Amino acid sequence: VVEEISAGRGVINFKVNRKFLAQRKILHDDKFGLNSELFLSLKRGTTLVEYSSPNIAKKFHAGHLRSTVIGNFIANLKQSLGNNVIRMNYLGDWGMQFGLLGAGFGQFGCLEKLKQNPLQHLFEVYVQVNKEAEHSEDIKQAAREFFRQLEQHESQAVSLWKQFREITVREYQRVYQRLGIHFDVYSGESFHQDQAQEVLQQLQSRGLLKTSEKGTGVVDLSLDGDMSNVCTVLRSDGTTLYITRDIAAAINRKEMYNFDEMIYVTDKSQENHFSQLFQILLSMGHSWAQRCRHVSFGLVQGMKTRTGEVVFLEDVLDEARARMLHNMSQSTTKTMDNPEDTAEKVGISALIIQDFRGPLQSDYKFDWDQMLQAQGDTGVFLQYTHARLSTFDPSLLHEQTSVSILQHLLRYDEVLYQSAQDLQPKHLINFLLKLCHLIASAHRELPVKGSPQDVAQARLRLFSGARSVLANGMRILGIAPVAKM
Ligand code: ARG
Repeated sequence: VVEEISAGRGVINFKVNRKFLAQRKILHDDKFGLNSELFLSLKRGTTLVEYSSPNIAKKFHAGHLRSTVIGNFIANLKQSLGNNVIRMNYLGDWGMQFGLLGAGFGQFGCLEKLKQNPLQHLFEVYVQVNKEAEHSEDIKQAAREFFRQLEQHESQAVSLWKQFREITVREYQRVYQRLGIHFDVYSGESFHQDQAQEVLQQLQSRGLLKTSEKGTGVVDLSLDGDMSNVCTVLRSDGTTLYITRDIAAAINRKEMYNFDEMIYVTDKSQENHFSQLFQILLSMGHSWAQRCRHVSFGLVQGMKTRTGEVVFLEDVLDEARARMLHNMSQSTTKTMDNPEDTAEKVGISALIIQDFRGPLQSDYKFDWDQMLQAQGDTGVFLQYTHARLSTFDPSLLHEQTSVSILQHLLRYDEVLYQSAQDLQPKHLINFLLKLCHLIASAHRELPVKGSPQDVAQARLRLFSGARSVLANGMRILGIAPVAKM
């Protein structure tokens, strides 16, 4: 790539070999960047990525949205680098809340409403029964009784619970589809009830299970073994906890999928949970826990829609689409085949870029107006650049700009490599946005009409190559590129 290196006063000059650059197979290669020698050093194998993981009957909050899009990005990235990827959703589908829900459904529930608008209805019943339980011992008693029946696999309780779960999964699948997201497995906490008991036995037989003063079962994680840092795995009433189910789930996944690495994606409030989980697994002799990783992210402030606080994922998607549709109607004169679909894709792209721009660990403020701006480093700008390249007129452009674009495109593999190292989307985002800026200045500054045909053809190839790198990068981010907007 470098033809000549020379030293000047206080500078070193690198002369780029333009001919060599232009001959590289950047152009019209769908796999460009993905077969890079850089990736030879990366291990390939089976990667299990667990993400989204909402709780049945509860709110789908901003943290779940972040987990969904970040997990999808990581799964796409790993897959495009040649790994076998298992995409898993681990539902919050067990615990006392199902006692409440089951007990409450008899009083406030309606099967007709459950069919019509499942998530909404389950949420309403759950909110109502919680309110009721605050001052009613009867309801609390009924909830405990219902949960006991569930734990004992009594058929009536189980069949109602199953209905809640199935209907929720179906509904989520429909909404995830709007995001272009799918899961290979819908697992959940409920799957690991019995295994959690086995885990307790294993902990016991290894001498790791201690009894605390409060009568709970704990694992001592302190360095000195003085119980100064313990993790509770068993309540005094004999029931298991979130972490106990996670231990069981991890062991079960290793047995079922024999993954080489496993990645959990949740907000940073669960950092301690996962570090305890990995420590306990290691102390049980599961050395593969070293290849488990928690990718954590910061909080989102102020995610609201016109109707108020966000309760369901679909509300956010609807709002993004509506706002984008509105913006489009103000600015475009073109007629479009399916403006709703375009607005949906561009709106989602705006959501994703806003979310991915900084380090994942940082908190950020959700801002509809800013994310939907057509200019600046937004998802709208990204899509706009892609759409414009899709109908590019080849008889434009100047040589120096072409070289800058080619040079930039050559960094694609390096950028993917970087993202694969720390699983942060920002490297890819910055690369793509920079590409958009290069292309914008190419459009703006260097319109050349009537260039000779061979030149025009070379430029056409350059532009379509840039477009295909842009599109591939966007897809890894979880963004469906549009060709018109
Ligand atoms: N359902 C949990 C929540 O909403 C997230 C589950 C994360 N995954 C796990 N294996 N614990 O907070």
